[in-house]
Amino acid sequence: MANAPEKKEMTEVSEAQIAVHWREEEYFNPPQKFIAQANMPDSKILERFGLDKFPDCFKEYADMVSWFEPYHTVLDTSNAPFWKWFTGGKINASYNCVDRHLAKYRNKAAIIFVGEPENEDPVAITYQELYYRVNEVAAMLRDYVGLKAGDRVTFHLPMTPELPITMLACARLGVIHSEVFGGFSGQACGTRIQDSGSHVLVTIDSYWRAGTLVDHKANADIAVQTAEEMGQHVDKVLVWQRYPGKYGSKTPMVEGRDFFMNDLLKKYQGKKVDPVPMDSTAPLFLMYTSGTTGKPKGIQHSTGGYLAYVTGTAKYIQDIHPEDTYWCMADIGWITGHSYIVYGPLSLAATSVVYEGTPTYPDAGRPWRIAERLGVNILHTAPTSIRMLRKLGPDEPAKYNYHFKHMTTVGEPIEPDVWRWYYHTVGKDEAVIVDTWWQTENGGFLCTTTPAVHQMKPGSAGPGAPGIHPVILDEDGEEVPAGSGKAGNICIRNPWPGIMQTIWGDPDRYVRTYYARYNKNPKSTDWRDWPYMAGDGAVQAADKYYRILGRIDDVINVAGHRLGTKEIESACLTVPEVAEAAVVPVADELRGRVPEIYIALKPGIQASPEIVAKVVKANEDIIGKIARPKHVYIVPDMPKTRSGKIMRRVLASISNQRDVGDVTTLANPTVVEEIRVMVQGKDAVAQMGEVPEDIAKFGQNE
Ligand code: PRX
Repeated sequence: MANAPEKKEMTEVSEAQIAVHWREEEYFNPPQKFIAQANMPDSKILERFGLDKFPDCFKEYADMVSWFEPYHTVLDTSNAPFWKWFTGGKINASYNCVDRHLAKYRNKAAIIFVGEPENEDPVAITYQELYYRVNEVAAMLRDYVGLKAGDRVTFHLPMTPELPITMLACARLGVIHSEVFGGFSGQACGTRIQDSGSHVLVTIDSYWRAGTLVDHKANADIAVQTAEEMGQHVDKVLVWQRYPGKYGSKTPMVEGRDFFMNDLLKKYQGKKVDPVPMDSTAPLFLMYTSGTTGKPKGIQHSTGGYLAYVTGTAKYIQDIHPEDTYWCMADIGWITGHSYIVYGPLSLAATSVVYEGTPTYPDAGRPWRIAERLGVNILHTAPTSIRMLRKLGPDEPAKYNYHFKHMTTVGEPIEPDVWRWYYHTVGKDEAVIVDTWWQTENGGFLCTTTPAVHQMKPGSAGPGAPGIHPVILDEDGEEVPAGSGKAGNICIRNPWPGIMQTIWGDPDRYVRTYYARYNKNPKSTDWRDWPYMAGDGAVQAADKYYRILGRIDDVINVAGHRLGTKEIESACLTVPEVAEAAVVPVADELRGRVPEIYIALKPGIQASPEIVAKVVKANEDIIGKIARPKHVYIVPDMPKTRSGKIMRRVLASISNQRDVGDVTTLANPTVVEEIRVMVQGKDAVAQMGEVPEDIAKFGQNE
């Protein structure tokens, strides 16, 4: 039970009380027009994917992708919980997302790139053009850089077409890509380079964000240096250019290490590379995500199982047809973008929009202008963006002539009120909505309605996706019945093809984090003995719909993305004046949750605004702007138990204006009241701790 969350962090106790008081929301029916054209209008799908049909039901998804050699076993559990899907099969993800569409869709747009500056026209890349570009990049990576199947390559790329192109070029060779979100700092990128053992970094000189051309290449130098200090040497930094031929960074190129992609590619024009037939179980990519300890986890995804799962769910849950123009506003630097901007939609021959900038730049009408201009009919975004767009432009959608048939929300719980604005105002009462609950580790959707089959209920993710059989377990591993109003840990009874393979380089942590909690027999090779623990609290209503309450561990979900409290606290402790740091999530109108930091200083050091600024900067440098705290409070001492543990629960209550409860047993109970007055009473020190709220300008995708 190494990973059993400590009692002090079990937020579901209080969340459960909230849950019981939630009122039941009314249902919405999927529009008839949607049902008439849906890929999956048949409610028999649920029987077909019943637990009694597991695992063979997932052949239906495997049949949606093209195999070089057929698989012989659907699911191999011999080394549980390291699941192997579709073993014996040979497959290539690049072939599936590009080559196989050429016969029918060669001249159809695969990607439409929309740059942030509105005076730059969108650029459509056809499947033929994508084929050409992916091949030349693959040829260059193979023949010039010397990359081969199984090697890892780190990308630190923003939202331009070069990102999916380089991903697909790697996939063509069986090279494992590891994309680090472009908004993360150079240091964060460097630690991920080191963990993955990459010798090559792919980056870009610059990109547009909220009206600024960001100098991004500067991060590459920091990343390489960080990796070097950690013992990982980077031989080559490959630099795309936002405007080919024009270098948009002030940082000099390092002789012998840095190369412009566009220069290198000249020698590979028109070169073709046969897609390498990969084992179904060969890793396709790594995606780092925060965990309970300081070190991010390299989540390893497979080729065959992952591709089949994202293709199947993009088809049935997002209802993507080749004729659709689909826009997911997430960043490809997160799992949502990997699965539902690149691999899922392209595997289905859809047109996938890649938008470079913030959704609210230059104003909150921008997304609706893009939708109107490109004829987007499927939209995918997160509650944090929806809240922001509602706040800044509640009446904007009505001004534009677009029509969505389908809309997705993902990443955090959506408030019913925000859901209704999405439905009525953004969707104009015409679009079906799916609220999809899942995680980096899962590859694709876990809980969601099947859009033409189920009714929608605002604020609820819905039942399990086809073939996903969730269960809520309590502390003792007992099932919490539907409709009981009680919260517990949401788990999945069965594996599925999109589930991660392991944590890169740390298989023990994989077992400990996701499976050890409810496994009774570590030697078992029966999947029934290995429920997957997601790390979220949830309640299940009588209608079997799940409502997700949030994390039960030390992870803060900021604007739909995960930050480990330990990561933030470690960053604070790099400031020499800081003796102790504690981070808690605080509710935020726009971003859902944001970190709030409490620090205690070393003896003899006076509190000052400079120290607050240093703490903020340390977080931005080490993690990225996403980790910018709402406030930094310098406190005389941390509330502690007699054994010396910092009581984050008490601090979280103070930050969220909740009752702190009984603190008499603490080692230093009087400090609690001092801190409460400081935070809630907004005295002079608290004011000093205010952090400007300009992160809003940085955008919602972070
Ligand atoms: O707490 C859940 C929340 O986001 C976490 C996963 O974050 P990440 O791995 O970054 O992946 C985000 C996108 C797949 C989950 O543990 N979460 C995700 N989707 C929802 C959600 N919470 C409520 N409702 C959702 N639809």
